[in-house]
Amino acid sequence: MSGVLAGQVVLISGAAQGLGESHARFVVAAGGRVVLGDIDGEGVRRVAKDLGEAAVAVDLDVTEPDSWAAAVRTGEAAVGGLTGLVANAGIFGHGDTATVDLEVFRQVHRVNVDGVLLGIQAVVPSLVRAGGGSIVTISSVAGLIGIENHPSYVSSKFAVRGLTKAAALDLGRHHIRVNSVHPGRIVTPFIDGLDSAVLPNQVIREPGQPADVSELVVFLLSPASRFSTGSEFVVDGGRQLGEFRP
Ligand SMILES: NC(=O)c1ccc[n+]([C@@H]2O[C@H](COP(=O)([O-])OP(=O)(O)OC[C@H]3O[C@@H](n4cnc5c(N)ncnc54)[C@H](O)[C@@H]3O)[C@@H](O)[C@H]2O)c1
Repeated sequence: MSGVLAGQVVLISGAAQGLGESHARFVVAAGGRVVLGDIDGEGVRRVAKDLGEAAVAVDLDVTEPDSWAAAVRTGEAAVGGLTGLVANAGIFGHGDTATVDLEVFRQVHRVNVDGVLLGIQAVVPSLVRAGGGSIVTISSVAGLIGIENHPSYVSSKFAVRGLTKAAALDLGRHHIRVNSVHPGRIVTPFIDGLDSAVLPNQVIREPGQPADVSELVVFLLSPASRFSTGSEFVVDGGRQLGEFRP
């Protein structure tokens, strides 16, 4: 995979830890440069420092348009004009459908859905200037199937999947591709406190690792995926195929 992203500059949201940090490491290993944004400023500066000259850290709250504008400005001044976006930042919200707190529901949507829309809007002018680019949205298997007790998260990740298709249609004329990634359970701080890293209905009986998702993200950012847009890419160990008894 070395060199497949040479010359590319990718903004990654939620890059202080977990999947976003992993995507950053994989993009740089593939020859790209990265602008790493997170509300955890200290965490994202640590990751950027580790990656050296190919990376810059920016403070980013994905729910705020001005924050995205500043991230693009600062990032481009440091590492060059953007050619890609990984809209990765996301949060969970607990509570079942009958009783979930409206403010929890709205906050999950603000981060997971508004945050993706605002990210796309912030990078489009740069990608148009570059003559095109690739946007990868991080949805979830929860954007393909329901999960009990997670109405906020499931509805937000279905929305990301739909937004991805709408954006692919609107941006195709600018040679901008937009695809969604749907991870199953992956070992990151996000799943701390959950019962098990391997789900009962998962066909591949090993925990999913951040690298499993980042390999796919690099492919979608690279010219190797030039004929794919508006599509769903699942990386879940076969978790949502159907009934399965290991
Ligand atoms: N880990 C999994 O099992 C899994 C499965 C499916 C989908 N996902 C999705 O992958 C993405 C990354 O998940 P992860 O496992 O790395 O989670 P994580 O909790 O380890 O990391 C998320 C990062 O997003 C940042 N963030 C949160 N709110 C933000 C905001 N308003 N602005 C900017 N940054 C913000 C956090 O500070 C954190 O660094 C999320 O969208 C998540 O829904 C994760």
